[in-house]
Amino acid sequence: MFNHIENYAGDPILSLMESFNNDARFEKVNLSIGLYSDENGVTPIMDAVAKAKLVLKALNNSPSLYLPMSGMPSYVKQVQQLLFESTPSAQAQNKIATIQTLGGSGALKIGADFLKKSYPNSKLYVSDPTWDNHIAIFTGAGLEVAYYPYFNKSTGTVDFKNMIDFLETLDEKSIVLLHPCCHNPTGADLSNVQWDVVIRVLKEKNLIPFLDLAYLGFGDGFEEDAYAIKSMTQSGLSFLLSNSFSKIFSLYGERVGALSIICGSEQEANLVLGQLKATVRKNYSSPPTYGAQLIDVVLSNIELKRNWLDELECMRTRMNTMRTALYAQLIKIGADKNKFKFLIEQKGMFSYTGFTSQQVKTLREEFAIYLVASGRICLAGLNRNNIKRVAEAFLTLTEKTNTVSI
Ligand code: LMR
Repeated sequence: MFNHIENYAGDPILSLMESFNNDARFEKVNLSIGLYSDENGVTPIMDAVAKAKLVLKALNNSPSLYLPMSGMPSYVKQVQQLLFESTPSAQAQNKIATIQTLGGSGALKIGADFLKKSYPNSKLYVSDPTWDNHIAIFTGAGLEVAYYPYFNKSTGTVDFKNMIDFLETLDEKSIVLLHPCCHNPTGADLSNVQWDVVIRVLKEKNLIPFLDLAYLGFGDGFEEDAYAIKSMTQSGLSFLLSNSFSKIFSLYGERVGALSIICGSEQEANLVLGQLKATVRKNYSSPPTYGAQLIDVVLSNIELKRNWLDELECMRTRMNTMRTALYAQLIKIGADKNKFKFLIEQKGMFSYTGFTSQQVKTLREEFAIYLVASGRICLAGLNRNNIKRVAEAFLTLTEKTNTVSI
């Protein structure tokens, strides 16, 4: 019956995690998946989350009922407050339709299905490059996906002029997927001034923006990283926003996120919310409870929220320290200053090394250092114990082949 089924070659990111776990070499270093590890190489349970778990344990007697299709109402309210804190009027006017989702990927999938139904002829544009799963999710929902220019390989920064020139050519109602901060995979972000220009073009050309937010607070800081959301909301544009709490609450396994659609009016938001519920029902009926409860407890308590924001800031600082330390170590052992400068210029959890897939293979096979085939590294996998070895391997590889192009 199933003889004809195609072999699955594996996911470019998640399959690496399995290979890493099966690698018996003691010195192995995981710089592949976007998973935050602390200085000891451990993915932490955040203190605010641990406290929220105790709160929930004490209340543990309630039966496990189905949540509404749109998720837990108090969680949804907290998510809106967190993301639209600086633009309270959109919230006050009930112009935002928000649902709880299965992580950021779940939000993208519900958003993709919603767009395919509401705008069946619209094409979706993603940055070149983007997170591999963006393409899988949107093509899986039946949307046609194409790239817009984004990354300049020779400078390691955003190819802004080409990006804008391209966006200006798009048909109206085209969908444009953007990363509000900590671009995945490149770590090359738009500046605030550049965001203003992008927003102006989106508005002039009547495009549909879809912001994918998984790393809020990992770039320049929590408020700073929210600039695109704030200005897009203030601009009056209607847009979609998917957000994930996997990384910023270190709650990967709970699959907790949200999809918000910022509409033109309360009436529009009600209609949109209805369609989002219908889309959820068709996909998985309703979301799970526990992760949303944890986040609700943290965000609704001033002290726990402060606690969480402080911990988030520590994660950000550690990743930045690792960026600087890796760069300094490379220079110390003789690397060309300019070749690796991208490390200290790019932001967030990732950087794009420019290593070819062959070099990435060599790093894995000869040095037990795991990167994504595109050359993306996750800075959170670095620590004081492995940074020297990683720098030496990077330099050896660069000298051997001399092809790091950034
Ligand atoms: C990543 O980009 O590594 C993360 O978002 C994890 C994933 O699901 O790919």
